[in-house]
Amino acid sequence: MARKSAFLDNIYSVEGGDAMQRYYDDWAASYDADLAANDYRTPGRCAAMLARHVGDRATPILDFACGTGISGAALNAAGFTVIDGTDISAGMLEKARAKGVYRDLWECDSEDPLAGVRGYGALAAVGAIGAGAAPVETLDAAIDAITPGGVFVVSLNDHTLEDPDYLARLERAADEGRIEMLEAEDGPHLPAIGLNARVVAVRRR
Ligand SMILES: C[S@@+](CC[C@H](N)C(=O)[O-])C[C@H]1O[C@@H](n2cnc3c(N)ncnc32)[C@H](O)[C@@H]1O
Repeated sequence: MARKSAFLDNIYSVEGGDAMQRYYDDWAASYDADLAANDYRTPGRCAAMLARHVGDRATPILDFACGTGISGAALNAAGFTVIDGTDISAGMLEKARAKGVYRDLWECDSEDPLAGVRGYGALAAVGAIGAGAAPVETLDAAIDAITPGGVFVVSLNDHTLEDPDYLARLERAADEGRIEMLEAEDGPHLPAIGLNARVVAVRRR
């Protein structure tokens, strides 16, 4: 049964770093309940896809834009043991810390959230890039943050896929030989509100 949430209704039109940060700070207290009530499937789908392509469950993973840690908890449930998280919202990070699944958590800058971040064996961006989250250029920064041979899994919801730039960025990175496409799967994102997402896994060359 879908639960009405004004935060969920309005998030896909929020733009800009400061407005986004305030929005998620305000949403932090009720985010988990809102997402659970709307049957949020993408964390489990992303974690399962990552597990299909990353054999070493102890490889360090960055849960980019980790929010309250629903995505980190899904990665942990899939068997991954070394998970760091970053987000622009201190309110969301406080909730993430309470989940107890992260090695390290830090607040990042919305303009360049992955500045200086390097060396991860995998990176997950779960509901984290696109409409209502980080901008399209974050896709390239995420690829740069993983080691050659590492895997990047990203979800792109229906609203995000309306903008062709997101898939075009990944295709360009593949054409340039920076990544190899591993898998793409369309499926439920928030089925209670009829929203789907494509989950994509790529390997950095
Ligand atoms: C829809 S939530 C997803 C959170 C979590 N990954 C999950 O699956 O529940 C999007 C998150 O992106 C964060 N965010 C938005 N813009 C960002 C940016 N430019 N850099 C980093 N995080 C950002 C928000 O603070 C929010 O926690």
